[in-house]
Amino acid sequence: MKRVLLFILPILIIISVVFTVSGIVQVRFTQDKLMDDLKRKAKTVNESLELSARYILVNNDLKSANRLVEIFQRKERLQGCAIYDKDGQILAITERFSDWSQKDKPYIKDMLINKNPRGELESFREYTVYSYVQPVLDDDNNVLGLVEVLYDTSYMFNTLTELWKKISVTLIILILLITIIAFLIQRQIFILPVRRLTQWFSHFQRGETDKLRPFKEEGEFGKLISEVEQVALGLRVARKAVSDEAHVRIQKEEVWTEAKLRDLIHAKLGENAFFVVSNREPYLHIIDENTGVPKCVRPASGVVTAIDPILRACGGTWVAHGSANADRQFVNSKNKLGVPPGEDRYILKRVWLTKEEEDGYYYGFSNEGLWPLCHVTHTRPIFRETDWQMYKKVNQKFADSILEELPAKNPFVFIQDYHFTLLAKMIKEKRPDAIVAIFWHIPWPNPEVFAICPYQHEILEGMLACDLIGFHLQFHCNNFLDTANRLVECRVDTEKFSIVRANKETFVRAFPISVDGYIGGNILKIDPEQIKKIRKEYNLEDKVVALGVDRIDYTKGIIERIMAIDRFLEKYPQYRNKFVFVQLAAPSRTHIKRYHELIAEIDELVEKKNWKYSDGVWNPIVYLKRHFSPEEIVPYYSLADLCIVSSLHDGMNLVAKEYVSSKNDLSGTLILSRFTGASRELTDAIQINPYSIEEFSDAIKFAIEMPVEEKRKRMENMRNIVKENNVYRWAGKIITELSALKKEAG
Ligand code: G6P
Repeated sequence: MKRVLLFILPILIIISVVFTVSGIVQVRFTQDKLMDDLKRKAKTVNESLELSARYILVNNDLKSANRLVEIFQRKERLQGCAIYDKDGQILAITERFSDWSQKDKPYIKDMLINKNPRGELESFREYTVYSYVQPVLDDDNNVLGLVEVLYDTSYMFNTLTELWKKISVTLIILILLITIIAFLIQRQIFILPVRRLTQWFSHFQRGETDKLRPFKEEGEFGKLISEVEQVALGLRVARKAVSDEAHVRIQKEEVWTEAKLRDLIHAKLGENAFFVVSNREPYLHIIDENTGVPKCVRPASGVVTAIDPILRACGGTWVAHGSANADRQFVNSKNKLGVPPGEDRYILKRVWLTKEEEDGYYYGFSNEGLWPLCHVTHTRPIFRETDWQMYKKVNQKFADSILEELPAKNPFVFIQDYHFTLLAKMIKEKRPDAIVAIFWHIPWPNPEVFAICPYQHEILEGMLACDLIGFHLQFHCNNFLDTANRLVECRVDTEKFSIVRANKETFVRAFPISVDGYIGGNILKIDPEQIKKIRKEYNLEDKVVALGVDRIDYTKGIIERIMAIDRFLEKYPQYRNKFVFVQLAAPSRTHIKRYHELIAEIDELVEKKNWKYSDGVWNPIVYLKRHFSPEEIVPYYSLADLCIVSSLHDGMNLVAKEYVSSKNDLSGTLILSRFTGASRELTDAIQINPYSIEEFSDAIKFAIEMPVEEKRKRMENMRNIVKENNVYRWAGKIITELSALKKEAG
């Protein structure tokens, strides 16, 4: 509509100007004509009045004079008439116009002298009259008196106003007609074909190719349509070819690589794209505090570390919360952008949340409720009704955003984590044909623990709408089965490892997540200069370096780690001045009180322990509290003699796997909490109970003093495990399981 108006606005302006000018001319012309008529009429009437007046003035017959003015006043539009004597005094005047005698009329005197008739407009009371005055002369040309006729001019004003009205109405009708016609024409020749083309293309995008009818359009638009059809056909053929090739290649390769996963997805999912949903987005656009320029940042998140390589390999769409302050600047009209920036390997669709939604859904229910509920760290979960309402609202918002994108046939939606327990149900309500899986990246508690959640039934019901639920460990699968069995009405099949509720079967499986293992072309780039620089900057030269890489979270056991280092230096003073612990710590969820307190607690503890041992040059702890990109972390992994992962409870912990896979030279030792999922696979790590500070501190010594050969052997074993069970395998297993479900369903 706006565009139509913009197009016709100049036309309308020109028409209005032309109309107004011609209206003015027409009104002027009419006004002149009316005035001429009036003058002529006044003159004629006055002349006939003059004849009779002469006789009256000669005889000074006052009675006849009065009769005469009364007779004349009946003439059409004549307001009145008057007869003056030779001194300019009124002899007789129409009665209804008798006030006229009060009016000051300087022209009367002039006329008695110059004897010329005079016709002018005169103001009288609140209106204007036309006065025509004529001298009455005797045969010797002497003035006997004057006769004056007065005409009403208001009818002229009325006539002209009517004329203006007609002109304006015609102009308005014309403008309306032009606008309507322009709109109809534009709709017919532009909007309708574009709308049809858009619908056609969106059917194509969704894979509804059987619904597509060919276009029959002439002219330039027809040419555009035929080009679009060619591109669409080309794409369809290319997709089919890639899928066929993938089927062949997939049989050949053994180790899981990026390429093998890509082939698997093409072979199993065919034309259907892969949809991933998570709260945390893989790429954030943040305004740099120092420069004020937006920059792209990778968040510290296990989910992102694991899933990003998969989407990079296979393409697809990742729907996530657009949480950073410059995110809106980088999306298109559908809130999408190609990522990684500059490479465009897959699509990121950002969902916007209000502050209230983020507070209730993310900080509140997800991270003050479900997060502590699922981690055994003795932090009390907080459940607020308002948070729960927001959580439901945001789940629905994500469901709507995903539903907009889903292709026509059996789409695959892969949900990540505890932020979206209700999403599967919401998607299935609208698209029962969609295959939906959720992966739970954190531990699942036992039924007694889960039963304290006031919304347990809705959560379980929401999750059981999935076709597949994945956990890292079999132990968590067992806990989930027990929970469902105890808390909702369902049938648990322990043989198939599935749960049947309301005729819907949900499979529960363990898929231990991993990292890409720096394989499949993703060769780790280590810059020796960078390592030298770090060693120098933090006084690490000739020191044994231990490393911690974490989000600042109470589940990570950072406090316990510092206490263990303190104990280690107390017990084994020979390591003072020879050992440095570097902690890379990314602040996280800082609006939550518990996290806020934790940050302060760690700050204080680090300061206290450094003060305790510092000799003025050496500090045992280097605490770097900021966000580090994956590329920035690599040199730290490389220089670290040992890596400490001391989580009090952790679904998997990918830092452990990243450290192992970065150690190309087989150097380094891993100290790993036995309460992490990773400890089940990385049995060659030095496993600890982080709550036991004594055991922990001894483990540090043990790790440092372990013979080099043993260190290498252990590292090699762990690397082989991570290499084999890499994240491509993880995704491959899930896709294979999902596509088996698709076959059953279809
Ligand atoms: C854990 C969760 C992820 C989350 C990550 C970072 O790994 O399983 O879902 O993304 O922590 O937390 P954040 O709240 O910053 O996304």
